[in-house]
Amino acid sequence: MNKKLSLYDVQIVINNNSFSHLADYIDAACPSSIFVIVDSNTKTKCLPILLESVSELKNSCVIEICPGETSKSLQEVKNICEILLVNGLDRSSLIINLGGGVVCDLGGFVASIIKRGVNFINIPTTLMSQIDASIGGKVGVNFLNQKNQLGLFSNPQLIFISSVFLKTLSNKEISTSYSEIVKYALIFDKIFWHKLQKLLLNNKINLSPIIKKCINIKKTIVAQDFHDVNERRKLNFGHSIAHAIESCFIDNKLIISHGLAVFVGLICESYISYEKNNLSKVSLMEIVNFIFKLMSPIFLEKKYDEKILYYIKSDKKNKNGISRFTLLNSIGESVVNCHVSDVEVLNSFKFYRKNAKLYFTKNQ
Ligand SMILES: NC(=O)c1ccc[n+]([C@@H]2O[C@H](COP(=O)([O-])OP(=O)(O)OC[C@H]3O[C@@H](n4cnc5c(N)ncnc54)[C@H](O)[C@@H]3O)[C@@H](O)[C@H]2O)c1
Repeated sequence: MNKKLSLYDVQIVINNNSFSHLADYIDAACPSSIFVIVDSNTKTKCLPILLESVSELKNSCVIEICPGETSKSLQEVKNICEILLVNGLDRSSLIINLGGGVVCDLGGFVASIIKRGVNFINIPTTLMSQIDASIGGKVGVNFLNQKNQLGLFSNPQLIFISSVFLKTLSNKEISTSYSEIVKYALIFDKIFWHKLQKLLLNNKINLSPIIKKCINIKKTIVAQDFHDVNERRKLNFGHSIAHAIESCFIDNKLIISHGLAVFVGLICESYISYEKNNLSKVSLMEIVNFIFKLMSPIFLEKKYDEKILYYIKSDKKNKNGISRFTLLNSIGESVVNCHVSDVEVLNSFKFYRKNAKLYFTKNQ
């Protein structure tokens, strides 16, 4: 059975090569059965490494989903639950989520509701999930085209992070996840922000210390407000707009990665921070120029503005229909629950489009 754990009770093991901690955990837990949830990419690229390294998993039942955001759905929850029950899951079973944020969010949700909760382990295999999605206990799926509308706060027993899995990710997959790293620095740590200017533009980047730093920032913030009513909302910087863009893309059967949507959200919400709060013009342009060095900008078509606004209004953090954003007062200092109007959001889209156009023209 899944005991309610606080984030400080959750073991987060950051280990480059050795899987012994994971094997020891499974030996000690002695589960009645083990299920490993993968998507078809992690099935080929990560599962063989895991099975070879942890003999305790050789009789586990592997459940495969399709890669991508569309799998974060109630239909997929139903499919997985059926497989789990048909294969004899009971309350002493263990579920292992081996994959990126999609597998961790979906698998964590399934593990938390089935039979009122069974133990689960996250083994995040993308940079995005190692620094963010696997940690903090938010699990869930999308509903009615809207991001993360159904979910729970529920921590895994163990989060096992290994750089071995990052080797098969494309450069694009890695670099779009930099958006969350940039976010951590902007909301929390000015010194980290200055360090990132050099670190993230270096071709021979050593990600391990950056991953540890991001995990520490997330742990520190989540520990103060697990249920996301105040301090934790700092982590939402860039995400009010990013999630609405993702919802709009899902709605229009288009694809955008979470990381890329967050880059756009960071630019727009930095602009709103400049317009409404105390973020200086110099800091705004420092943020924008740095982000455009890290991302390949997408063209945000004006025809989607109204739909994105609609999805912003259904954000879980809003109250009485008023949009509540996290904004910056300066680099490294964020403030939660700021009321933002539709006009302010639309102006931020204009600002994004203007700067993205400048970037395209300069780089043609
Ligand atoms: N719960 C949270 O706190 C939280 C935080 C941030 C993001 N998220 C969610 O996480 C999701 C995004 O996560 P993501 O960026 O990891 O996306 P993802 O899970 O879709 O993974 C991205 C792609 O990489 C592939 N992949 C995964 N591991 C691989 C590996 N080792 N080698 C090669 N390919 C691999 C996947 O199959 C997929 O095609 C979104 O749904 C987002 O909402 C949740």
